[in-house]
Amino acid sequence: MLQSGDGRSDWWRSAAIYQVYIRSFADGNGDGVGDLAGIRARLPYLRDLGVDAIWINPWYRSPMADAGYDVADYFDIDPLFGTLTEADELIAEAHAMGLRVIADVVPNHCSDQHEWFQAALRAGAGSIERDRFWFRPGKGQDGDSPPNDWPSSFGGSAWTRVDDGEWYLHSFAAEQPDFNWANAEVRAEFRRILRFWLDRGLDGFRIDVAHGLVKQDDLPDIGSDPDPLDLPNSDRPEVHDVWREWRKVVDDYPAGRVLIGEVWVASADALARYLRPDELHSAFNFDFLRCSWDARQFRQVIDDTLAAHAPVGAPASWVLSNHDVTRHVSRYGRADTSFDSATSQFSTPTDLQLGIRRARAAALLTMALPGCVYIYQGDELGLWEVEDIPDELRQDPVWRRSGFTDRGRDGCRVPLPWGGEEPPFGFSPDTVEPWLPQPSEWRDRTVATQNGDPGSMLELYRMALRIRRAEPALGDDTMTWLPAPQNVLAFSRGDRFSCLVNLSETTVELPERTVVLLASALSEDGGIPPDAAVWLRTA
Ligand code: NOJ
Repeated sequence: MLQSGDGRSDWWRSAAIYQVYIRSFADGNGDGVGDLAGIRARLPYLRDLGVDAIWINPWYRSPMADAGYDVADYFDIDPLFGTLTEADELIAEAHAMGLRVIADVVPNHCSDQHEWFQAALRAGAGSIERDRFWFRPGKGQDGDSPPNDWPSSFGGSAWTRVDDGEWYLHSFAAEQPDFNWANAEVRAEFRRILRFWLDRGLDGFRIDVAHGLVKQDDLPDIGSDPDPLDLPNSDRPEVHDVWREWRKVVDDYPAGRVLIGEVWVASADALARYLRPDELHSAFNFDFLRCSWDARQFRQVIDDTLAAHAPVGAPASWVLSNHDVTRHVSRYGRADTSFDSATSQFSTPTDLQLGIRRARAAALLTMALPGCVYIYQGDELGLWEVEDIPDELRQDPVWRRSGFTDRGRDGCRVPLPWGGEEPPFGFSPDTVEPWLPQPSEWRDRTVATQNGDPGSMLELYRMALRIRRAEPALGDDTMTWLPAPQNVLAFSRGDRFSCLVNLSETTVELPERTVVLLASALSEDGGIPPDAAVWLRTA
C-alpha cells in the first residue's frame, strides 16, 4: 500500500508507466465511453500486469472538441467520466494496490468555453482579460488576414477572428485558445491547479505540449524554410523558467511526485535540457518511437539518448506508441516502417502477423533498456491501428481541420477488447455501442482470450514486467553493447543479463553459456528467428 510520498522516491527512474486513454479503457456506466468507474473496476488488471504507475489522459470538464485536451475547468472532472469524489477514490484504490497515478495537465491552451476565454471575448481589445491569451489585430487593410503565418498543428491557420475584429492564437483547434505564459496570472493559476491535484494525492503530471508554452513575443512569421532549432512558437529558451517554477511546486510535496513532459523537439540534446535537475523528471523519447524497424537506427537513437541524458542525470525513457500516433503493430507490419510516412500510409497493405512479431520483440527491447518505459493501453494486447472506421464516425478534429485529407488519430484510440466473441468485447455492456467501432477480428485479441496463453502478447508483457521488476540489473543503470552479427542488437545489463534483438533476415544462434529467461519467439532448433528478441542469463 502506497501512502503519499511512500516507497522509493526515485521510482520514476526505472518505472513501467501504463497510459490509460480514459475514453477507450473501460466503460463503467454503460454509455459507450470509458470512465473513472471503468478504470477503478480494472485496477486489479493493471496491478497484475505488473506496471508501477498509470497516466490517465485528461479527465477535466471539457466540451471535448479535442477529446478533453480542451479544458473548460481544471478543478473538476467531466461528468462524462465521473466525479471528483470518484477521482479521489480511484487515487486511493490505486495506491492501495501499489500503483501510482499521474494525471494529464494541459497548460498550453484551454477550451474556448473556459471562463477566462469567455471573459476575454466580452472584455474587448487591450483588456487584462485578453492579455491572458494571444489576441492581436489582423494584417491587411481591414485586418482580415491573420497576424502571422503560423499553422495550427491540426491544419489551417493558427488564428481565428472574433466578432470585434481581433484574432486569437490557437496552436491546435480553434476551440483551444493558447494561454499567454508571459502573463503572471496564468502562471499563478497553474501553480494553483498543480497544488489542487497534488493535495488530492496525485503522484504527478504528464504535461501536454511542454515545448510550446512560450512564444516569441513579437510573433514573427515562421516562413517557408524555418530553422527547426529556432522556431518562434516552440522550444523557446524562456519555457525552461516555467518548468523551474513547476519543479519548485512539486518539490514542496513529499518526494516521489513527478513531472513528465510531452516534449517534441529537434534533438536529443534539446530534449535533455528539459530534464535538468531543477526542471522535469522525465519526458517521452519520441526519437525512439520514430525509429523504423532498423537495427542501425535503433542503436543510433539509443546511443544518442543515453549520451544526452547522462550529463543532466536524468533517466532515459522508451516509448513505442501513444494516443497520437499510428500503433506500432501496424507501423512495423508495413514495407515502409518509417514513422513520418505512417499516416500517409493509411490503407497500404499491412502484414499484421509480422507487425505483431516485431512488436513482441520491441517490447523486450524497450523493457531491457536503461530507464523507464511507457506502455500505451492495448500494446500489451498487440492491438493494431484501426483503419476502416467509417469517415462519418471519425471524431478527431484533425479530420475536419485538414479538409478531410488526414484521417487523424481515431484509429489508435479504439476501445479495448476485454472479452467475448463480438463487439463491444466487454468494453461496454453488450447492448451498447462504444464511441468508436471495434474490429470483429479483435475477438482473438481480447484480454480473456490471451489470459493464461503462454504464447500471447499479454503473457509476454506480464512475464517481462515481472522479470524486469525482480532483475536488479534492469531499470535505471548502464548498458554495454556486445559484439553481434549484422542487424542484430545485443547488449548486456550488469554481469549476467543480456538482450538480443534480431532485425536481420536470418536466424541467429544463441550465444554460448546462456540460458533463455524470456523469448518473444524461438526457432525450432532454439535459435533467435528474424524479428524476435530474447533475454538471456549469462552463466
Ligand atoms: C498533445 C496531445 O497528446 C494530443 O492528443 C492533443 O491533441 C494535443 N497535445 C493538443 O492538446
